[in-house]
Amino acid sequence: MIEKILFEQRRKVVVTGAGLVGATYCYALAQSGIADEIVLIDRNDNLLQGQVLDLIHGQPFFPTVIIRAGSASDYADSQLVVITAGVSQRPGETRLQLLIKNAEIVGSIAEEVAENKCKGIMLIVSNPVDVLTYVALKRSGWERSRVIGSGTVLDSARFRHLLSNHCGVDVHNVHAYMLGEHGDSEFAAWSMTHVAGINIDEYCPVCEKCTDWKNQRRLIEQQVRDSAYHIINYKGSTHYAVGLALVKITGAILRGQNSVLTVSTFLDGEFGITDICLSMPCIVSDKGVTQIIKSPLSKDEVDSLLRSAGILRDAIDSLKSIII
Ligand SMILES: NC(=O)c1ccc[n+]([C@@H]2O[C@H](COP(=O)([O-])OP(=O)(O)OC[C@H]3O[C@@H](n4cnc5c(N)ncnc54)[C@H](O)[C@@H]3O)[C@@H](O)[C@H]2O)c1
Repeated sequence: MIEKILFEQRRKVVVTGAGLVGATYCYALAQSGIADEIVLIDRNDNLLQGQVLDLIHGQPFFPTVIIRAGSASDYADSQLVVITAGVSQRPGETRLQLLIKNAEIVGSIAEEVAENKCKGIMLIVSNPVDVLTYVALKRSGWERSRVIGSGTVLDSARFRHLLSNHCGVDVHNVHAYMLGEHGDSEFAAWSMTHVAGINIDEYCPVCEKCTDWKNQRRLIEQQVRDSAYHIINYKGSTHYAVGLALVKITGAILRGQNSVLTVSTFLDGEFGITDICLSMPCIVSDKGVTQIIKSPLSKDEVDSLLRSAGILRDAIDSLKSIII
């Protein structure tokens, strides 16, 4: 009973992978006050010690939080394990070789989390996130609700930002989702897009800010897809906005908020798709994904979703018998 109370009260998050994304997430999470304890794990011990010291020196400025380096035994009583570990592409390496390496890394971490009898939620961030979420689900043996990927939560934020700029409406009054693969085949769910509470199909014809709104929509959607490429070309990686997107998902889980988020989740027949993970609007709480929202998508959107699913199917099949 005491154990149960302690587990429920202390909000412990373990972050495996203390690189740019992992450390930026910890920095934002510490400031948010959502977690009581943040434990970092990385196979590069120098980096790990450096990141922890750098973060912990901010303690006087954060809400009260413990930040420390840890090990696999920390998974046991954590409510959330966030996996940002991985390697990046080397010269001459194929995408498949990189995929196999990262699947091995994330798969073995997921196994360790399960072996340590963690009762919380596993959140995969490493790319390709949809495929690696699938690998983590299979290798952990957990139920599908508890293994989720950050999916297109970041892409949906980029979409909202661009729409907000274009329409001249506060981003908080713009509701919009990118769905499917976190990658080149993701698509904008225009049928679910609302500006100032009005469905965009009704908003655009009466808004006087632009005349070629059909073309503008296409450009905005493409800009969302290209965002990561642009940032990586400029500075080599993306980590600030994804760190904040992860804090949003963390809040939904640690506070049981039932937030609607486009996380990557295992589909089991929804939209006629089976046995892959991709992003749909989901209700996320302390139990993980408790509901996949089956929105009535347009025919074009369903086609895009099936296209994304096909691409992910091929990637998963290429890994089968090697990793899963
Ligand atoms: N899903 C998203 O929206 C999104 C956005 C940005 C980046 N990412 C992905 O996040 C991942 C991390 O990006 P980054 O910029 O932080 O990379 P990074 O190279 O800075 O950090 C990765 C860290 O993982 C560690 N690591 C590797 N194998 C490990 C293992 N077995 N156990 C523990 N630690 C291990 C490395 O030592 C390194 O510190 C990448 O796969 C990147 O593509 C995802």
